[in-house]
Amino acid sequence: MFSHLKSWLMLFEEYTYFNYQFPEPQYLGAKHTHLVWLNKFIPKNIKKAIDAFGGSQSVAYLLKQCGFEVITNDFLEFNNQIGKALIENRDTKLDKTDIDFLFSNNSNLNEYNLITDTYTDLFFEIQEAVFADNLRANIEQLNDPFKKSLALTIINRAMTRKVTMGHFGHTQALVYANDPIRVKRNRSLIRPLKDIFLELLPNYNAAVFDNKKDNESYSLNILDLLPQLSNTDLIYFDPPYCDSHADYQSFYHLLETYTVYWKDKQFVNGIKRYEPQRYSGFDKKKTVVKSFEQLFEKSADIPNWLISYNNRSFPSIEQLAKMVAKYKNVSVETKTYQNGRGGKGSVAGSKEVLLVCKPKKQFSFNIKEKPQLSIDERF
Ligand SMILES: C[S@@+](CC[C@H](N)C(=O)[O-])C[C@H]1O[C@@H](n2cnc3c(N)ncnc32)[C@H](O)[C@@H]1O
Repeated sequence: MFSHLKSWLMLFEEYTYFNYQFPEPQYLGAKHTHLVWLNKFIPKNIKKAIDAFGGSQSVAYLLKQCGFEVITNDFLEFNNQIGKALIENRDTKLDKTDIDFLFSNNSNLNEYNLITDTYTDLFFEIQEAVFADNLRANIEQLNDPFKKSLALTIINRAMTRKVTMGHFGHTQALVYANDPIRVKRNRSLIRPLKDIFLELLPNYNAAVFDNKKDNESYSLNILDLLPQLSNTDLIYFDPPYCDSHADYQSFYHLLETYTVYWKDKQFVNGIKRYEPQRYSGFDKKKTVVKSFEQLFEKSADIPNWLISYNNRSFPSIEQLAKMVAKYKNVSVETKTYQNGRGGKGSVAGSKEVLLVCKPKKQFSFNIKEKPQLSIDERF
C-alpha cells in the first residue's frame, strides 16, 4: 500500500519537472525543436542516461526532466558551462547582489583585455568589448562555481544574440549592426550586451531545478570519457553531421575563447579563431569512420543507444546502421524538415534521422545430447 503511494508520488514529482522550461538556444544542430519526437524513443524504465555530445544541452535537459541521473558531455568548455549551470546545478541562481557585483568595475582589468584586444571592431565596438572583459574578470571572482557557470552561460547566449546570424564564423557583425534595414529586423544587433544579459537572466534562473539525482557535466572528448563511466542504461549520440557544417570551433570560437580565456593560443584568419583547435575526430571525413567504430566499441556495454544523424551527411545512414548492427538491433526513424530551420545544413526536404538501438535478443539453445544408441538399436 505504502510502496504504491510512494511510487505514485515519485511519478507525480517527475511529471512536475516538465513545468521547467529550457531557455531557447541558438546553436547549430540543437535539438530543442525535435524534443517531443525524440522523447517518444527514450525508454522510461531506466535510471542513468548519457548525452555524449551535449552541445546546447537541450537533450540533457530533457533527460533530467525525465528524472534520470544524467551525465552530459561536450568537448567544448562553453557547452560544459551550460551543463554545469542547468544539468548539474540543483538550486543555485544569480540574485541581485551577484548582478550588482558582476556589473561593477573590476580593478584588475589590465589582466582582462583579451576580448578588447582581439575582437574590437570585428565583433564588437570598443565599449561592448570592454564590458565583456570586465564582466569576465568579475565572473572569475564569484566564489560559487554554479554562479560562475550561470553567468558564463547567460553572457555567451547574449553574445550569440548580439552578433548577426548567431555565430562567429563571419566578419559581418558590425557591417550588419550599421545597416538600418538589418537592425529593423533584429534590434539585438545594436542592443548593449548588458541589456540582453538582463533580459535573459530570469529565464535561466527559472530553468534551474533539482531532479534529486547526482547529475554531472564534463568537457572531454567522448572517447576519453566513456571508459570512466559505468551502469549506464541509455546513451544519446548527436555528433557533428560530418560533411554538412560540422565545424563547431569556427562557428563558436569566440564563446570558447571567452570562457577559457586562452593564454596560449594564436588567433588566426579574418574571424580570429583560436589555433590550435581541439581534436574532435567526428568533424572530418578522414577520421569520422574510425571515430564511430571506437565510439560504438566503447559503448558496447550500454544497453540502449539513440543516434541522431542526417541523411545528407557522411557516413551514410546505411553505413552507420551497418556499423551499429555489430552490437545492437537497430531501427531507423525519420523526421522530414518542413523548412531549413533544423540547423547543421538542414534544408527543406532533408531528413533528421534517429537510429534506435536496442540489445540484441539473447537466444539460448537447449541442445539435448543425443542418446547413445545400443548396438542392437542401430541395426
Ligand atoms: C550536433 S551538436 C549537439 C547538439 C545537441 N544535441 C543540442 O541539442 O544542442 C554536436 C556537438 O558535438 C560536440 N563534439 C564534437 N566532437 C566531439 C567529441 N569528440 N567529444 C565530445 N563532443 C564533441 C560539438 O562541440 C557539438 O556541440
